[in-house]
Amino acid sequence: MRITVIGSGYVGLVSAVCFAELGHEVLSVDNDHAKIALLREGQVPIHERFLPELLNRHRGKRLSFSTSVREAVDQSDAVFITVGTPQSETGEADLSFVEAVAREIASAIHDFKVVVEKSTVPVRTCESLRKTLLLNGARQDLFSVASNPEFLREGTAVTDFLYPDRVVIGVDDQVSASLLSSIYRPLTDGSYYRQENAIPLTGYAHAQAPIIVTDAKSAELIKHASNAFLAMKISFINAVANIAESVGADIEQVCEGIGSDSRIGRKFLNAGIGYGGSCFPKDVQAFRMVAEQCNYEFGLLTEVMRVNTEQRTRFLRKVRNALWTLRGKRLGVLGLAFKGDTDDIRESAALEIISALLKEGACVCAYDPAAIPKAKEVLDENNMSYAADPYMAAAGCDAVLILTEWKEFAQLDLEKLRSVVKHPILIDGRNLYRPADVARAGFVYHSIGRSVAIPESMIFDGKSEATRRESAIRLATIPGWRQESGQPLQPAS
Ligand code: UDX
Repeated sequence: MRITVIGSGYVGLVSAVCFAELGHEVLSVDNDHAKIALLREGQVPIHERFLPELLNRHRGKRLSFSTSVREAVDQSDAVFITVGTPQSETGEADLSFVEAVAREIASAIHDFKVVVEKSTVPVRTCESLRKTLLLNGARQDLFSVASNPEFLREGTAVTDFLYPDRVVIGVDDQVSASLLSSIYRPLTDGSYYRQENAIPLTGYAHAQAPIIVTDAKSAELIKHASNAFLAMKISFINAVANIAESVGADIEQVCEGIGSDSRIGRKFLNAGIGYGGSCFPKDVQAFRMVAEQCNYEFGLLTEVMRVNTEQRTRFLRKVRNALWTLRGKRLGVLGLAFKGDTDDIRESAALEIISALLKEGACVCAYDPAAIPKAKEVLDENNMSYAADPYMAAAGCDAVLILTEWKEFAQLDLEKLRSVVKHPILIDGRNLYRPADVARAGFVYHSIGRSVAIPESMIFDGKSEATRRESAIRLATIPGWRQESGQPLQPAS
């Protein structure tokens, strides 16, 4: 199959490279000449696992690059639109890039094409796409329009594409249905997974990827509703975490208990400082606007967004409670990206928290395995510095903060960390550690939805050595140790 993918951002580039991996002839198009020049040389502009390997495997063979929509459309059977749909001032998705591309596609349709929207768009965009193509001169019998939403997470986008939980194709006619089905056949018949040089995924459960065929509008709704549901799951568990913290329960144990119900599932139940990124914040907002336009007040989504914002404020309060005042305090911050395994800082909770800390007069030294260059472009330079590893970021600090769930941050040498900090306070916005382990390493450990854990050596309750040792871990998890008043390290009664 000859495929054109218009837009070489995260979704477009990953899709183009993966379509080539499935055996198709692919043209990846972007109007950014510099980006296309880089890609032609085999340089990958984004941090994404397996992307460099696949780009080099197919570049100049089944995968080529162009800046001309016309030329690319002319040479293909299917045209995927993967341009950005940013948030407009009103919160709706701004579809002007999609419309501009549709106009260009229309003028290049001389034989039959299936035009597929892959960008995240509001329901009924397929209808507008169809109208725009007609208005701009495409003959009705020379195209059909379909929706093929993506469910790619940054950092695992390549394996998400090649090992999907499901492929959704939204089609209103048989031609689109059979063309899109054949594009994905190597996944849906499992032949890709039997290839010797297939990109590996350990623990993959399907021998064949399931395919769900719907009408176009339903596919569009599936995308927005999926992202909104996942965001709701995160806000829900964060709300429960706040209760757990108040009563001295442990949110991780609660999650285990809730998530073991197969109707709920354990994934996306990680409490923390809230969701960020280029999708969830924008998509939840846009979906709420879609509902409004349908005269439906989707108050549940308003609350999902409110809880998410509040989670960052609560974390800042936690930092203040642990340190009392912030002016002049030195904080070692681990994590800048909106989540682990990416250099993306869009809508990153970490950056929002750092900006607030800087405003309150704290000095921040940050480390992130990938996102430092991007963070440097947006963060205030005053009182802000960057380190080459987590221990350098923590050196001489009044407290260490974990803001992004990089695997590397879950495997720190706590003894070493303890030896470089000024004060042993670890405030973990991602619950990467077991409280007792961190306390044993000598840190006062604050996390989300769990009581503060205190090292045995800091418990001044006047008891005998043996009793102290015995009760230390127990004390560390009782709510009396929360430092609501800013009075550290004393039991409540
Ligand atoms: C998301 C969707 O998962 C993907 O299907 C869609 O196509 C694009 O948007 P992505 O934005 O890459 O992908 O990130 P994701 O892994 O979903 O995480 C989103 C945010 O939620 C991150 O900030 C992450 O830290 C946070 N998160 C995730 C939690 O706070 N808790 C969780 O349990 C999971």
